Amino acid sequence: MTPLFELSNVCFAYEGHIALRYITLDIAPGETVVFQGPNGCGKSTLMKLLNGLVFPEEGTYRFDGDEISEKTLKDTTFSKRFHQRVGFIFQNADVQLFCANVEEEISFGPRQMGLSEEEIRQRTDDVIALLDIEKLRERAPYHLSGGEKRKVAIACILSMNPEALVLDEPLAGLDRKTQEWLVGFLLQMKAAGKTLVISTHNDELAHTLADRIVTIDEDHTVVKIETNERL
Ligand SMILES: Nc1ncnc2c1ncn2[C@@H]1O[C@H](COP(=O)(O)OP(=O)(O)OP(=O)(O)O)[C@@H](O)[C@H]1O
Ligand SMILES: [Mg+2]
Repeated sequence: MTPLFELSNVCFAYEGHIALRYITLDIAPGETVVFQGPNGCGKSTLMKLLNGLVFPEEGTYRFDGDEISEKTLKDTTFSKRFHQRVGFIFQNADVQLFCANVEEEISFGPRQMGLSEEEIRQRTDDVIALLDIEKLRERAPYHLSGGEKRKVAIACILSMNPEALVLDEPLAGLDRKTQEWLVGFLLQMKAAGKTLVISTHNDELAHTLADRIVTIDEDHTVVKIETNERL
């Protein structure tokens, strides 16, 4: 089976400041992989790379067999399709919400996909119901609380029905109830066969959800890959 995500000797530096060193890892379709490691080890950078926001300076990144690079993403058809298949939830939802109200925000992706108005409305209503955010529909995204923003950001991604979700520190800043809701929701996504890639400092989340737990160290490279025995 072709891995969904395939990293081969990936290196990345921010203007000479190393963030990732020789990362080699395959993630199979339907697998849940959790990344752990100390502050600054490169988790967020790796999440960005998986989503095509930064590119390997050395090594290669393939998604479902296709190389993801600055050059290949210049093809807008390819790039649109890739971003439809991989949904990215940033640690800070502020950077991904920009519309006047929540309904518009959620319908933005399906509209970009060129779906009919009927289909756009259907998908928007479906994810609003799924995430139980009907009362947020008319609100301005930038006025929402952190947890509400996270839910809206997730709704936006789900409205495009991606096969993979990449989540950077999804529990950070959420209250206990919202954390529990999110863990349950991710378990549902896992059961539905989605591929999940998650960075977290939360061991409980890692052990509840992960098929494999990957540890990156201060040297910005993978030092341990564990199969989760709890599952
Ligand atoms: N935009 C940037 N410009 C320069 N250096 C950066 C930039 N973003 C991150 N870095 C550096 O790259 C390294 C990896 O950062 P990254 O944010 O990927 O770490 P992280 O593992 O996500 O950390 P945390 O657990 O704190 O979220 C760090 O040394 C960081 O200082
Ligand atoms: Mg980070």
